[in-house]
Order: sequence, then structure tokens, then C-alpha cells
Amino acid sequence: MDTIEWIDATAMGDVPADDVIGILVAGRDIALYNAGGEIFATDNICTHGHARLCEGFLEGHEIECPLHQGRFDVRSGQPSCAPVTEALRSYPVRIEGGRVLLALD
Ligand code: FES
Repeated sequence: MDTIEWIDATAMGDVPADDVIGILVAGRDIALYNAGGEIFATDNICTHGHARLCEGFLEGHEIECPLHQGRFDVRSGQPSCAPVTEALRSYPVRIEGGRVLLALD
């Protein structure tokens, strides 16, 4: 039985290729990444300071924070470059009918 609640976040076409956007989903600030045509979702606020990752730079599967250039792997939220040490929360993504669905809990 599928007990996961999938929330419709946006249209797939709203996430530009090899880029990142920030959106509010159910009151949460979420970063959506389009890495080579695959969509990933994490919290949008860096775990190091109060910077929005959607204003950063996506390279492959890594998002670089705009404030101190820390990096995270968008697939897992794991930090990959100092000064960040704490993982970002990442969320399961499902694409259905051109819509991006997220499981936030
Ligand atoms: Fe993101 Fe410092 S706020 S690396």
C-alpha cells in the first residue's frame, strides 16, 4: 500500500535544464534541480548559513552555495566541499504527466 503523500510542486518545464529554482511547497522553501534532465529536491536553505541555494550554481550533481561556496550533492544532500559539514534534507521526487511531485515527509 502506498502511504506516501505526493505533493504537486510545479511543472517539469519550470525547472530549466542544468539549473536550480527555489519554490515554496506546502510552506517549505525547496530547491529543485534539473541535473541532466533528472529532477532532484532538497531544502533550499544552506546548512552553513542563511543562504538560498537556488541563487547558487549547479554543476553536474553539485550545488554550490552562493555565500561561501560550500557544495552539496543534490542527489543525497550530502556535503561535498567545505565549509559545509551538515547534510541538506533531500526529498523523493516523482514525475507524473509532466508534473514534479515531492514526498516531503
Ligand atoms: Fe552556504 Fe556558508 S552559507 S556555505
